[in-house]
Amino acid sequence: MSRKTIIAPSLLAADFARLGEEARAVAAAGADWLHLDVMDGHFVPNLTIGPDVIAALRPHTDIPFDVHLMIAPADPFLEAFRKAGADIISVHPEAGPHLSRTLQRIRELGAKAGVVFNPSTPPEAVESVLDQVDLMLVMSVNPGFGGQSFMTSQLKKIERLARLIESTGRDIILEVDGGVTRDTARLCRDAGATALVAGTAVFKGGPEVYADNITALRGG
Ligand code: DX5
Ligand code: ZN
Repeated sequence: MSRKTIIAPSLLAADFARLGEEARAVAAAGADWLHLDVMDGHFVPNLTIGPDVIAALRPHTDIPFDVHLMIAPADPFLEAFRKAGADIISVHPEAGPHLSRTLQRIRELGAKAGVVFNPSTPPEAVESVLDQVDLMLVMSVNPGFGGQSFMTSQLKKIERLARLIESTGRDIILEVDGGVTRDTARLCRDAGATALVAGTAVFKGGPEVYADNITALRGG
C-alpha cells in the first residue's frame, strides 16, 4: 500500500510579515496541510503564535490546519484553537497530567487528536490511549526551533509506531517533524511515516520553488 505522503509545511519558516500570503502560496504549491507551531516560552524555550493569528489565517486557505501545541497547560486553550480553525490538534503527553482527558476533549470539539513524541518520549506513551488517537507526531529534533538537524535516532521509534498503528487496523496518521529535508524525508517514508512536516525545506528559495520543494519531499 503506497499512498501519497501528506506534506505539511510549517509556517515557522515563512515570512512572518506576510503569513496570509505565505499560507496561500504553499497551498497553491501543493501542500496538503498547514502546520502551525504554537510555543509558550515555558514548555519550550521559544514564543510564537496563538489562536488569534490562526483565526486570521483561516480565511486564506481551505487546507487543513495541523496545530502543534507546545504549551503547558494545553487544556484551557483547546477550545480557542478549535474555534480559530484547527482541524488537527496535537499535544505533548508531558504538557499535562491527563493525556486521555485532553484527547477526549479535542475530539469532543470536533478536531482530530494527535500525540507528539519528544525525542526522549517512548512509544509506550501512547499505548494506553490508542483508541483516542487520530495522529502520532514524532519529533526528530527537540521542539522549539526550526532549522535544526534531523535526529536519526528517532527512526526506530517511527518504525515501532508504524507497527503499532498497523496492529490497530486503524488509519492513524504517522507524522514526522524536525529537520525533514529531501534526504531525511526518504528515511522517514521508508520507516513508515505517512505525513511530513517541513519548515526550512519548503520555504527556502522563496515562492517560485515551493512546488518543487514540496514535490521533492514527497519523493518526486
Ligand atoms: C519545531 C517545530 C517544527 C519546525 C520544523 O519545534 O515543531 O515544526 O518548524 O522546522 P524545520 O523543518 O526547519 O526543522
Ligand atoms: Zn511542529
